Formats: sequence, structure tokens, C-alpha cells
Amino acid sequence: MSTQSRLLTALIEARDTISGERLAQMLGVSRAACWKQIGQLRANGLTISSNRKGYRLEAWTEALQIDKLQRFLSFNAPDFSVNPIVMETVDSTNLEVKRLAAKDAPEFTVVTAKEQTAGKGRMGRIWLSSDNGGLYTSILLRPSMIPQSVLPLSLLTALAVRDCLREFLPEKVGLKWPNDVLYNKQKVCGILCESLLEDAHVRQLTVGIGINVNQADFPDELQDKAVSIRQIVQHRIDPNYICSRLLYHFSAYYQRFITANYKFDTFLNDYRASCLTIGQAVSVNYPGAEQRAEAVNINRDGMLLLKTIEGNVVEVGAGEVQVRGLLGYA
Ligand code: BTN
Repeated sequence: MSTQSRLLTALIEARDTISGERLAQMLGVSRAACWKQIGQLRANGLTISSNRKGYRLEAWTEALQIDKLQRFLSFNAPDFSVNPIVMETVDSTNLEVKRLAAKDAPEFTVVTAKEQTAGKGRMGRIWLSSDNGGLYTSILLRPSMIPQSVLPLSLLTALAVRDCLREFLPEKVGLKWPNDVLYNKQKVCGILCESLLEDAHVRQLTVGIGINVNQADFPDELQDKAVSIRQIVQHRIDPNYICSRLLYHFSAYYQRFITANYKFDTFLNDYRASCLTIGQAVSVNYPGAEQRAEAVNINRDGMLLLKTIEGNVVEVGAGEVQVRGLLGYA
């Protein structure tokens, strides 16, 4: 965990003014270094008041609020003109983004909701989305790319979530191909990218991200598979702040992806280094069939390379198969 993440945790947990000396002691750094990190958190949009007794984190809330989100975004995603929309409830933020896109909403329209009544997961699954602390966010993109770039973009989204979560979580965050983000083999985030094609080009893309932020627990069937940030760090996170940090990281990766001409090559090593699926025995579900194989690598198009029992190496894309680790969820 970085010094900055530990500082943030210390400020949240203090719930009141905490002296610079105590903070520096807790972090094992000098007071000057601590002060520098406070400056960085302020630059991210956090209000940290100071007086002669020390520092205090102000206005840390648990509810999504458009004015707070907008304020944080003005600090965290200044390079993109993000158009944020906060909803109490919606069927699915992905569906809402698509409805807005049909009415010519601009790129980087971002819909986030406290609750989804028909949250969608990958492979036609349901994403449980009651108003219990999950963050449900969808981003509208209008890239000029070919359909083959959709998979890489969804992998980049997982990298952006990984970087965002690293600001809050104490240990390593890993990825389950294609784009589940895991902590200790339990899922913290799922991603659903849906594209609209026209003339063999992607006309619009909806990037839906569900992060388990403040849930106190999960239904029995998910207990072993899902985990929230709150369960890990034992305190709540302001959903407005984490949403702004998510968009900060996402916009940085998206900008780099555009500059790389929608090619995945430059991100491949970084993705591989965080991918927990590589080296795993997996079960691959094709429509109507199941096969066991070993996940051996990711290729430059973001596809998973599998070694079958017969020894052949085959490549699979995210839409074609469901890959499940034989040893645990990863
Ligand atoms: C998965 O892991 O199956 C993908 C889950 C994606 C869930 C998010 S929540 C925000 C957005 N709206 C939806 O209906 N789904 C995505």
C-alpha cells in the first residue's frame, strides 16, 4: 500500500483531527513527507483542514451526490469534459447510457446510480445491484476503432480499475481474464463493455463498471466469490471520491489507447503481470460444450491462449467462452 493510501486510511479512520506527528509516526515517514502527501490528496480534490492540532478529512460522505462528484471530477479528470449524471435508481446504467447515446449524448457522458433494478453482468448474467453500497457506473465512448479493439479496451478498463483500487486496498489486486478485478481471489469489480457497430466500425461503446465499495456483506451464494473494499479495509469509502479516481485512471488509459492507435501491444506486459489466469488450469465453456485446458498467455489482441489436453494452443476471445479456474474463482 502506498504512503498516500495509508495516509488516506489514517485520516478516514481518525474521524477527527489527527496530529501531523502522529500521522508521520503511523506512516513511518518524516513530517515533511507527510505534508507533501497531504498536498497530493488535496490536489485530488479532498478537503483536508489543518490547524495547530493537526489535520482533519472533511465532508467524507457515503452517498452519491452530483455536486460532490462534479467537484471531485474537476480535480481528477480535468482533461476530459465529463458529463456526470447521478441517479437514485435505474434499470441498468449501461441501458441508460445507450438511451442517452441515442439522443446524441456526448462522449464521456457518465451515468452512475445508487441502485440498479436490472443490473447486467457478462454472458447474460445478472449483476446484483441493490442500494447497499455498490458503485454502478457506465461511460459512453465514441471511439473510431475496429471491433477487434473492444476486447483490448475492456482489458484496459480492468487495468484502470486495478490502479484505482490500489489507492484504497492494502495488498495486491489481480485480474481474472478478461476483466474481473480480484482481491485475494475474490471479485471486487466486474466490467461489461457493449458496442454498437456500423459499417464494420465501433460507433459507440458503453463501458459498464460495477465496484463492490461499501457493501457490509453479500448473499450466501456470493460470500466466497465477492468482497467489498469496506470488508477489506474496515471503513467506508466516499463513492464520489472513488468514482472520480476511477474516471481519472480510466481517462488516462483511454487517452493512451487512442495515442497507441487502439493497439494493445504497449499495455500487454502490464496486463500479463497482473493476470492471475495465466498458468491456471481452467474450464472453458463453449456454447454447448466444456473443455479443460491450461491458460498459457495473452496475445497482442488481448485474447487468451489456451493449451488443450491434446497439446494444441488455441486462442479465445471474451465473447466466445467462459473461463473458470479449477482451483478457486481465479
Ligand atoms: C460481470 O462481471 O459480469 C460484469 C458486471 C458489470 C456490472 C456493471 S454495474 C454498471 C454497469 N451496468 C450494468 O447493468 N452492468 C454494468
